[in-house]
Amino acid sequence: MTNTATLNFNDKSYELPVVTGSENEQAIDIQKLRADSELITLDSGYKNTGATTSEITFLDGEKGILRYRGYPIEQLAEKSSFIEVAYLLIYGELPKKAQLEKFQNDITRHTLIHEDMKRFYEAYPAKAHPMGVVASITCSLSTFYPESQQPNRSAEEIELTIVRLLAKFSTIAAWAYKNSVGHPVMYPKNSLHYVENFLHMMFGMPTENFDADPVIVNALDKLLILHADHEQNCSTSTVRMVGSSQANLYASISAGICALWGPLHGGANQAVIEMLEQIKNDGGDVQKFINKAKDKNDPFRLMGFGHRVYKNFDPRASIIKDACDQMLNKLGVSDPMLDIAKQLEEAALNDPYFVERKLYPNVDFYSGIIYRAMGIPTEMFTVMFALGRLPGWIAQWKEMLGNKEPISRPRQIYTGHTQRNYQNIADR
Ligand code: SDX
Repeated sequence: MTNTATLNFNDKSYELPVVTGSENEQAIDIQKLRADSELITLDSGYKNTGATTSEITFLDGEKGILRYRGYPIEQLAEKSSFIEVAYLLIYGELPKKAQLEKFQNDITRHTLIHEDMKRFYEAYPAKAHPMGVVASITCSLSTFYPESQQPNRSAEEIELTIVRLLAKFSTIAAWAYKNSVGHPVMYPKNSLHYVENFLHMMFGMPTENFDADPVIVNALDKLLILHADHEQNCSTSTVRMVGSSQANLYASISAGICALWGPLHGGANQAVIEMLEQIKNDGGDVQKFINKAKDKNDPFRLMGFGHRVYKNFDPRASIIKDACDQMLNKLGVSDPMLDIAKQLEEAALNDPYFVERKLYPNVDFYSGIIYRAMGIPTEMFTVMFALGRLPGWIAQWKEMLGNKEPISRPRQIYTGHTQRNYQNIADR
């Protein structure tokens, strides 16, 4: 492995160091490029640019590999739990029994949100999109815990903020749903584990007992594991960018929620179901929509297909597809959307346009179908994505702080007017 790269420019030669990671990925370190050569690099969408080094998640887009702290996603999805994976991502190692119990108990004991926050929900219009609600209420947590806003907060205060956020976000998310359907909110129960507690707050009613179906609990726990982190994606990079200014964790995560909302990112799971419904209501001709997706003059995209990194299958999509089949069979649910999704996948994977561009189903393609079978409404799908991604965002924010990374401030190449003089309005 060479550890330098040579750049020849304007009859000068620059030796640039090459960084090699633990999986033998290599990057040219350009941190001194501008000082030495007055050159910068340009990379719209950062398709070829590494923002940081990280020890949290490894992806291999060609081989369809995803590992959290070195553990394959397939093993974690099968053997671990969401709270255990959250601990692994944030603290770097699988917890021992006592550590996991303490982590779970700490989270359980912080699930209540301040009673004054209920008034926020009442102020939103009935059809407020829950992503807009949870993004703003998450940021508002910082106003109830002003000590979290101090840049020089102690390690203990950072840990307390992390536990508060993990605990309270599930309540904030469930209450956003309750508010959207006009139901009374359900308070968390300390006797329930994280996923059961969330489902209790989502679907429980004050008028009757609610016992979450273990099939749904297991499927949701697995879904949350699959969404827990994904290295430097759009929303995680946003969390790191905002956190690099020493903004508090609540504000940084709120910014990540907003970035996730976009239909090209986490909003795709809602857009997939809306697309499948459009195909179903249009008569179910999947080839017609494949042709629309290929037509450059048609803005239609096959939502849930394609990925910036995975140029082969998205390992999460394969696991979700299996979990979807199993859960629907166990619940005895047949969903016409699943049939359309499978026909769409089959048609796209045999179409040269998709094959040439290496466009495969991604994590969002099947997740919406599972959420529907759980009774979760379409507009809550991206909130579910945020619920899963929260420990990854926190881990990445913590790593960025721990590495004392500088404030993120990219450069640009200016292409606007060169200097010109102000003209009085009478002379324009
Ligand atoms: C997530 O980064 C992450 O890790 C994200 C994520 C995570 O866990 O955090 O994995 C979660 O966001 C998954 C992606 C969900 N988004 C969607 O499903 C929306 C549909 N997919 C796309 O819009 C697109 O594929 C992206 C945004 C996911 C990736 O876009 P890129 O890498 O910028 O690729 P591109 O838009 O430049 O597309 C390359 C080519 C183009 O055609 P050409 O100009 O070469 O002719 O592929 C085409 C695109 O038009 N293309 C599609 C397509 N996706 C790409 N054509 C039709 N349908 C699609 N879905």
